[in-house]
Amino acid sequence: MATGNSSNRGQWGSNTGFILAAAGSAIGLGNIWRFPYVVGENGGGAFLLIYLLCILLLGLPVMLAELTIGRYSRKNPVGAFESIRPRSRWKIVGFLGVITGICILSYYSVVAGYTLGYIGKTLAGNKDSYQSFSSNPLLAFSLFITFIVLTVLVVQGGIKNGIERCSKILMPILFFLMLILIIRSITLDGAGKGLVFYLKPDFSKVTGHTFLAAMGQAFFSLSLGMGCMITYGSYLPKDSNLLLNGVSVAAFDTLIALMAGFMIFPALFAAGMDPKAGPSLVFEVLPKIFSLMPGGNIVGASFFLLLSIAALTSTISLLEVATAYFVDERGWLRKKSVWFIALIVLLLGIPSALSQGIVPWLNNLPLVHIDFLGFMDWIFGNIMLAVGALFLAIFIAWIWKTNTAINEIKKGCPKFKYVSPIFSILLKFFCPAIILLLIVFLIIN
Ligand code: TRP
Repeated sequence: MATGNSSNRGQWGSNTGFILAAAGSAIGLGNIWRFPYVVGENGGGAFLLIYLLCILLLGLPVMLAELTIGRYSRKNPVGAFESIRPRSRWKIVGFLGVITGICILSYYSVVAGYTLGYIGKTLAGNKDSYQSFSSNPLLAFSLFITFIVLTVLVVQGGIKNGIERCSKILMPILFFLMLILIIRSITLDGAGKGLVFYLKPDFSKVTGHTFLAAMGQAFFSLSLGMGCMITYGSYLPKDSNLLLNGVSVAAFDTLIALMAGFMIFPALFAAGMDPKAGPSLVFEVLPKIFSLMPGGNIVGASFFLLLSIAALTSTISLLEVATAYFVDERGWLRKKSVWFIALIVLLLGIPSALSQGIVPWLNNLPLVHIDFLGFMDWIFGNIMLAVGALFLAIFIAWIWKTNTAINEIKKGCPKFKYVSPIFSILLKFFCPAIILLLIVFLIIN
């Protein structure tokens, strides 16, 4: 972040800088690790369709809402609510966001650690199963800690010169590498079945749970519901085009997720594997593709390297939210804030790190029958994001008022007047109603 802002909080170097950072936040394990296994668990094509609708009808309005209140208030999530409704309970929503971010970071870094480990594993041509990899405690912990420390170092030093510059070169490489892997995957014998699974909607598999998972995945993938885009929006200059920025970030993010599906499902079906494998899916399928390619070790290792970087630009954004809170609201130094949060994240992440085969009961929790990491992901990566998005939509539409938001967006985007009625309806009625409906459905079930 550059200096030169009146409040001295810093500002993005350029609009491209913002798009890169926000797309970097959005694009991560959510697209390449989480999206394929959630599609797999929810029956394929029909889920895909519902997911795209969620992006369009829930994700985009909430994205715009977050960016708008961020740019308007120039604050972290807690400060943003506080500046619009001082001394009200609304700032609790901001707090929930900060806590949700810390909790997501705790298990996200465990998986990000695996991608780091898979760089070396693939390069060395090590064919051990995911199971034996993830159940090695020393390895899991060192990778987990390494990843948190990497995140801390970047956030501590500021975003602009490190990550912004890296993503500019590395994101396009990730994109092209994925294209190559897609071609390899869809030309495998038996790949067709995977394409059918991925693209042909089978509505008999749709339940209330499918909608909930699709909505959660949309919020997770776009980094919404916990104030991440509020924080990133707060570093935007006043004349930036929020509509164009929001749409670009959502479009990039969705493109990469769709590509991940084309990369995984054909290979998965060609290898006769089970699409319902859950969180281990990508770590089991991808090595299969690499082993069928010339120079597969190198291609595979580069892929996991780029995936680690994509994960890093996401963990940075998760850490940045809590950091902005401690710096803005508590007046802590940036350095003290990041290390303090990192310690909490580390402690919170221990059960997740132990849940992938090291401690059996964490691998299959009583009552819920999923592993601890999956449980954290369900609570914080789905439900809490939906709750956050619900309150945010209500706050903007009914407390701050949609018209105030629309006027703020029009600064920098006069053409917004053509779509503002749609935005208004979606944010006022559609988003709160649908999100609430799904949360109530969840509680009843
Ligand atoms: N969107 C990121 C991904 O897809 C993860 C992420 C980063 C996130 N910041 C977030 C998720 C904020 C929810 C909220 O990997």
